[in-house]
Order: sequence, then C-alpha cells, then structure tokens
Amino acid sequence: MEHQPARSEYKKVWSALSTTEEQARLHVIGVTEEAALEATGQETLKFLQESVGIGKEDVVLEIGCGIGRVGKVVAPLCQKWIGCDVAANMLSLTAQRLKDLPNVELVEISGYNLSSVVDASVDVVYCTVVFMHLEPWDRYNYVLEAFRVLRPNGRVYVDNINLCSDGGWKVFEDHRAFSPANRPPHITHNSTPQEIETYLRRAGFSDVQLRTDDDWVRASGIKAP
Ligand SMILES: C[S@@+](CC[C@H](N)C(=O)[O-])C[C@H]1O[C@@H](n2cnc3c(N)ncnc32)[C@H](O)[C@@H]1O
Repeated sequence: MEHQPARSEYKKVWSALSTTEEQARLHVIGVTEEAALEATGQETLKFLQESVGIGKEDVVLEIGCGIGRVGKVVAPLCQKWIGCDVAANMLSLTAQRLKDLPNVELVEISGYNLSSVVDASVDVVYCTVVFMHLEPWDRYNYVLEAFRVLRPNGRVYVDNINLCSDGGWKVFEDHRAFSPANRPPHITHNSTPQEIETYLRRAGFSDVQLRTDDDWVRASGIKAP
C-alpha cells in the first residue's frame, strides 16, 4: 500500500478525498445525486431546528462544511452562514453549489482551530459528520473554539456515531477488520455520549442536552451570558 498521510494531517487527507466532485460527494455523505443530497441536508436541518434552532437574525457557522450539503438549506433561514473547511476543494464545490445564496461566507481553516473568526461574533456553531474523522483532542479543540466565537446565549451542536448503539458497534466491528497498516486515515472513530457531553461541559457550555434515540449521539449546549 502506498504511503498515507497521518489521520491528523487533515488538509492532506481531505484534499486527496475531494479531487473530483463525485469523490467529494461520496466522502461527504455517500450519495452523489443532488436530490438525495438535499434530502439528507433537510434531515440534518431538522436535528438542528430541534436542538439549537436557526433564526433569521442568526449568524451561523459550520465547522467542516464539505460541499455545503447542510449550508444549502440553512443559509436561506439565517442572516449569514459561514462555511469553514480544511479542504479548499470542498470549499470550491460549496461556492458553486451555493452561488445563488447572497449570505454565504467561506473560510479555509487549518484543521485545528477557527483562528480567523473573531471572539463572540456568531450565534450558532454546528459540526456534523466531522468528529468521526478527527482525533479526540481536535474534537475538543473545536468545542473550545465554538465557545470562543459564540456570543453570550449562543448555541452549539455537534454529533458523531454513537459507539454504544448497535449501529455504532457494527461500524466499529467492520472497521476492526482493517489490518493496522491498511486503516485509511479518515476511518470512522465513534464517540460515546459521555465523551461528547464531557467536552461540552468542560468547555463551559450550559444546558447540555444529548440525543441518542438512533445510532448517533447529538449534543447541544448554550454559552450562558
Ligand atoms: C464527511 S464530510 C461532512 C461535511 C459536512 N459537514 C456535511 O455533513 O455534509 C467531513 C468534512 O470535514 C472536513 N474536515 C476534515 N477534517 C477537518 C478538520 N480538521 N477541520 C475542518 N474540517 C475538516 C472535510 O474536508 C469534509 O469536508
């Protein structure tokens, strides 16, 4: 097998996974057809609405926005949608797909922080289908960064596949079949609900809520004033 970048070399890993639009779509959510992509975006929007809510005055920031799967349905509902991603290829595809939306800003980030986003400037930060590709320390770094960039009363949402669910355990077992030398750097690492809850609490979020009614853990919290 040819030499692979380390998992934490996110820019290298994800630039290589998004060299064509088809590859990018497949690695984002496993579907290529636009209608299917939009349907999954609506599903994620439903979870956001039921946890953090999206209001028309809100500045909303997504960490790891991919090709704007979720941004396409969130941006029309808020004041500004900021899509951040480590891969320039992903951001170019988002720019094309969302070109008719006037309130979209795209930011290429290092993969470890939101350093170009100013403190207390955002109302909602969310990060979906990204934590499974990150090292645990980088998950927590993003939770800390979310706390920093949120305004008082700002809301955060993060998710991962739940290791403690039957579906999450199946993913774990399937991936155990890879020999250590052949594990792809972006291979899914699930989270326990306790891991995600701990990050939100340790970062300072209040009113931490966990949803575990399917194979996912979905967590939200508020930055108390
Ligand atoms: C599976 S895709 C999900 C994209 C999008 N959140 C969605 O749900 O459609 C993972 C995305 O996270 C991005 N990503 C990976 N590592 C990252 C990191 N360390 N920081 C920011 N983005 C990252 C990838 O480039 C990719 O666009």
